[in-house]
Amino acid sequence: MGPASASRPFSNTLNPQTRLALERGIDLKNLPHHIALIMDGNGRWAQERGLPRVAGHKAGVDALRETITTCVRLGIEYLSAYAFSTENWGRPQEEVDYLMHLFAKTLIAELPLFKQENVRIAFLGDIEALPQKTRDIFHKGLSETSSHTGMVLALAVNYGARAEIARAARLIAQATADKKIRTDEIDAHLFSHYLYTAGMPDPELLIRTSGEMRLSNFLLFQLAYAELFLCDTYWPDFSCETLLDAIFSFQGRHRRFGKIEEGVHEC
Ligand code: IPE
Ligand code: IPE
Ligand code: MG
Repeated sequence: MGPASASRPFSNTLNPQTRLALERGIDLKNLPHHIALIMDGNGRWAQERGLPRVAGHKAGVDALRETITTCVRLGIEYLSAYAFSTENWGRPQEEVDYLMHLFAKTLIAELPLFKQENVRIAFLGDIEALPQKTRDIFHKGLSETSSHTGMVLALAVNYGARAEIARAARLIAQATADKKIRTDEIDAHLFSHYLYTAGMPDPELLIRTSGEMRLSNFLLFQLAYAELFLCDTYWPDFSCETLLDAIFSFQGRHRRFGKIEEGVHEC
């Protein structure tokens, strides 16, 4: 049983998000355990309003807070959110600096919410390479939520899937050289234990906002069989309703995992 299962609501204690989910025909017993999010379109959201790009990043924080709260209320066990890629260092220095400051400020501001909602924070990516202040606050967030048993919020910061896979290969090579594992033990399952997501189930649902139809180096190993939900909404406009649309769409998919539908045997 996953960590958030115990907080799954019962019909006599329905919260507004769960009530809305039921009204929309969502089956609360068939929710994804892990949702991955590519929060994209902040810059365009701001530019359309004649604002600087960073105003979009600031507005995006509200959308993430609403998404976290909805996921907690529904009883989602893991939420992974792509906040900063290894490629995003190539943006103008002022934007990078603003984002690093925003991440630190937001984590401090949202810690009471994480405590209230029993959310445990995890990071995907190399956070040791972040500026000192951001890094210190991230470590504070990790230690202050480490005993929480509710939803895991995995923030992908300085994350790139290719770097993650190369790192896993390096760690496995070292473990092999140290005779901790044998080469014939190395398979996809063992490999997954050396990724940043070790211990987490693979996401069943990936949501990307802003109309882009690519993975942009996000969880390339883990998303092998995820269902994709791509919407035109810019991230700051993403709401509880859009999340429920994504879950409803997910529940209508036929996940075959390379096999054929049950009961279909004719060739
Ligand atoms: C996503 O929004 C946030 C980050 C990558 C940090 P963007 O900043 O990529 O917004 P667009 O895609 O340029 O509109
Ligand atoms: C992906 O968005 C990274 C994050 C959302 C943090 P980008 O805006 O960086 O991706 P591309 O450049 O459109 O592929
Ligand atoms: Mg973008």
